[in-house]
Amino acid sequence: MEQAIESVLFSEEQLSQITGRLAEAINAAYAGRTVVVVGVLKGSFIFLADLFRRLTMPCELDFMAASSYGNQTTSTGFLNITKDLTADIAGKDVLLVEDIVDTGNTLSYIKEYLLTKGPESVRICTLFDKPSRRKKSITVEYVGAEIEDLFIVGYGLDFAEHYRNLPYVGILKPEIYQS
Ligand code: IMP
Ligand code: MG
Repeated sequence: MEQAIESVLFSEEQLSQITGRLAEAINAAYAGRTVVVVGVLKGSFIFLADLFRRLTMPCELDFMAASSYGNQTTSTGFLNITKDLTADIAGKDVLLVEDIVDTGNTLSYIKEYLLTKGPESVRICTLFDKPSRRKKSITVEYVGAEIEDLFIVGYGLDFAEHYRNLPYVGILKPEIYQS
């Protein structure tokens, strides 16, 4: 597995520092409130597990998953919700947690969808952001780290469903995704 990695971009220790900084900002912002934390499956699950246990306010946990219908519809932002919320978010503060924001299509679609359920607020926390690839403008309140236009894997992030179990985040060798 590790032969597929060109270099390590974020070590376990760096990921822990980033998650700690994000938790601090979120804890300060939501002090005294109750939050419904919604993880976007699957990529966010390891980051979310580490972030969630550092949150100090009362929290509910839920998950959503969405997939694009196909390449053409991806760019226009039409997605299929493959796993919906179980929590009732009406009147509640929602924090959406994502692994990486790329074009912005996924999160802008999910956020619009959540807003139809009458929450008090919806904010976004992402571990990584690739702003140079954005197609949909979207406000992301909490960003762990901005990265260049590279394909990264590990710590929950996959290429073709593999490499999620790497404990660090690495840059995938281009020959892996070009073959
Ligand atoms: P968006 O809808 O284009 O913003 O895509 C976001 C989704 O694309 C993320 O939730 C990831 O699943 C996937 N993605 C984008 N860039 C990467 C990457 O570098 N590594 C792994 N997955 C990525
Ligand atoms: Mg993915």
